[in-house]
Amino acid sequence: MTNIAILASGNGTNAQRISEYFSNHPAIRVRLILSNRTDAYVLTRAQKLGIPCHVFDRFTFYNTSEIPEILTNNEISFLVLAGFLWLIPGNLLKAYPGRIVNIHPALLPEYGGKGMYGERVHEAVIKAGERESGISIHYVNERYDEGDIIFQARCPVFSGDTVETLAGRIHELEYEYYPEVIEKVVMSHEP
Ligand code: GAR
Repeated sequence: MTNIAILASGNGTNAQRISEYFSNHPAIRVRLILSNRTDAYVLTRAQKLGIPCHVFDRFTFYNTSEIPEILTNNEISFLVLAGFLWLIPGNLLKAYPGRIVNIHPALLPEYGGKGMYGERVHEAVIKAGERESGISIHYVNERYDEGDIIFQARCPVFSGDTVETLAGRIHELEYEYYPEVIEKVVMSHEP
């Protein structure tokens, strides 16, 4: 069994979808959900799903080995970011080389980088008059949204779109593809 941990900062609809997708999987399971926010709704979702959670603060994340230790103790071999907004520190990148993936709600390399997350991304896409947006699933490195892209899917942006309607369309793409792409990537790493 390959254990994965999900890192999420907010609502956690992707975290839930991924957890449900793997709930009866023969080879992969979501063992842990980690968050940097005590008030993140993802923690309520995790509780309902019966998945253990751990919350950490900025100092712990960047200046201690607590998180790598928790991951090791839980035999985690893969990290999945799902709406997680902090840069991944060097100790985790080193412990999980090529084993950390993220999803971004736009077609990278456009509309990525520090501060570009969630609604801000959709706002920028609409403001620029783009006719198309989408999702990018990529490996994580030491810079925001710059790791190698694994998968992209596209959707139209309509002239009457609001941040909410575009976010809804993007979320549907995320739910459809992220679990499957995670499955493929994890399986390709395991013997
Ligand atoms: C998702 O749309 C994800 O792509 C985005 O945050 C949302 C989280 O939604 N991530 C980023 O913007 C990362 N830069 P969720 O909490 O409902 O899964």
